[in-house]
Amino acid sequence: MKSTALTTTLLLLLLSPAHAQLLPFLTNRQAQPPTQQQNPIMSNTPPGVQLPPSNDKTKDTIILSDVLGTQPTINIFAGFTQDIPSVSLRLANAGQNTTLLAPTNAAITSLPRKPWEDPREYSAFGADAYGGVEGGERARENLRRFTEAHVVPFSPWGEGERVERLGGGRVWWERREDKVVVMPGNVEVEGVVSRVGNGEVWVLRGVLDYAADSS
Ligand SMILES: *[C@@H]1O[C@H](CO)[C@@H](O)[C@H](O)[C@H]1NC(C)=O
Repeated sequence: MKSTALTTTLLLLLLSPAHAQLLPFLTNRQAQPPTQQQNPIMSNTPPGVQLPPSNDKTKDTIILSDVLGTQPTINIFAGFTQDIPSVSLRLANAGQNTTLLAPTNAAITSLPRKPWEDPREYSAFGADAYGGVEGGERARENLRRFTEAHVVPFSPWGEGERVERLGGGRVWWERREDKVVVMPGNVEVEGVVSRVGNGEVWVLRGVLDYAADSS
């Protein structure tokens, strides 16, 4: 009953979660530590002398598509973003900023149904609603809606600032005593795991409303 087009995403479900490295929420911007630490040594540098890394340049050239795969707690959602061109192209574009609101694997697997399933389609098309070519298209469209509902096409994103998601519908965030929530829906933010040149990855403990807009 599952679309074969979603195989890569489904494979990610098998990977076991681990703890994400959290950055302090909304402190001064910090780069995700790059994995490669070589200092480029310029040819006119005297032998034995290493120049300090030009850190600002390094930081800004790392973008969301580089870091998204490095967080095991959100690898299911990261897989979805790769399947949806409107999102994957955006995350790979250094000129477009994004705040990616990534639900944890646990938030996605504890949903009553898969993000690409819609009970109305089961009513309309029966148990095989997601089989075959047309079923695969339905699944892909639903997955697109789910994924775009978690993409804020701006960064930095200030507290209380109401922004339209890529998939439509306005969201904002608020501080509540010891936590931060995305509104509407009071979805708790576990933390910010990446700050890079074209935006930030926030980890959510739940999913945002992604119901089809019937208007
Ligand atoms: C995009 O993000 C970068 C890095 O945080 C920031 O310096 C820049 O001002 C942002 N650009 C826009 C248009 O918001």
